[in-house]
Amino acid sequence: MKNRFRRLVRKNQLSVSDLIYPIFVTEGENKQEAITSLPGCYRYSLDLLLLEIKDAFDLGIKAIALFPMIDPQKKDNQGQESYNPDGLVQRSVKAIKEKIPDIVVITDVALDPFSIYGHDGIVQDGEILNDETVEVLVKMAVSQAEAGADFVAPSDMMDGRVGAIRRGLDEAGYNNVGILAYSAKYASAYYGPFRDALASTPQFGDKKTYQMDITNAREALKEVELDIQEGADLVMVKPALAYLDIICRIKQMTDLPVVAYNVSREYAMIKAAASLGWIDEKRLIWETLTSIKRAGADLILTYFAKEVAVNQLYLLPNYDKYYP
Ligand code: PBG
Repeated sequence: MKNRFRRLVRKNQLSVSDLIYPIFVTEGENKQEAITSLPGCYRYSLDLLLLEIKDAFDLGIKAIALFPMIDPQKKDNQGQESYNPDGLVQRSVKAIKEKIPDIVVITDVALDPFSIYGHDGIVQDGEILNDETVEVLVKMAVSQAEAGADFVAPSDMMDGRVGAIRRGLDEAGYNNVGILAYSAKYASAYYGPFRDALASTPQFGDKKTYQMDITNAREALKEVELDIQEGADLVMVKPALAYLDIICRIKQMTDLPVVAYNVSREYAMIKAAASLGWIDEKRLIWETLTSIKRAGADLILTYFAKEVAVNQLYLLPNYDKYYP
């Protein structure tokens, strides 16, 4: 097809406003720590975090997802630090909202960064306690809302947490704070670098008692349905690339915005291949993110967000060199 016709009928053009930028915060000042397994991503102390977010916002990125690296001395089994009003997350959200009020701030609601076991729930005799964990998640979500979060994002997959968080937020007067539910989150091997970033690798076992079996598809629809009934405003599929079929099916079943998480190892694999000189990195980033959008994602969490904005990768299909 001639180029001008091809351009005329082109769908699913990637845009910076489709992207949510996940970002890591750590204690201290003037710190920008590299994460070996996640090249190009850093743990920022709050002062530098604000500069990075301002930069991203000025480039057109409309939302960030914040993840904290918690001081090991503040971790326990119950994740009590997670609802400390002066905790790292709460202080960060306040500062971001003061400095860059128009960026949408999404906070993570899960125990793993706060847990001595690196699990998403309270542990007893080697098991994860669902209901006791949900109580902590509600406190965490309310304290994040108090700090100014726009969306809270339960990423733990405990049963019933979306409904409990919705009730907790409403009772505390935060009706306007939304819930981004990690609804279909699989027990995937694609999360490793993220756990390195937060020093939150599980100390025993795995997360298969609460995250989904990678072999199942229909179960994802059930999980999404439950989260919608419980009051989710946005539903997420995670990881993205190996789960495009799930994104596509969920898009067909709901009119809510569908979000996909292009997770840490999906990012790291492209970075690793690029460092070996094996790939055309820009083109691969663009093709990857476009495929997630084509599958049905309205929004994509991706560590590539800023890179896409800086290099204007969404324009790639307009360059004949890349997309003849
Ligand atoms: C845990 C959580 C994980 C990620 C986000 N929240 C990892 C896990 O389930 O262990 C992974 C994100 C990524 O790999 O980029 N609550």
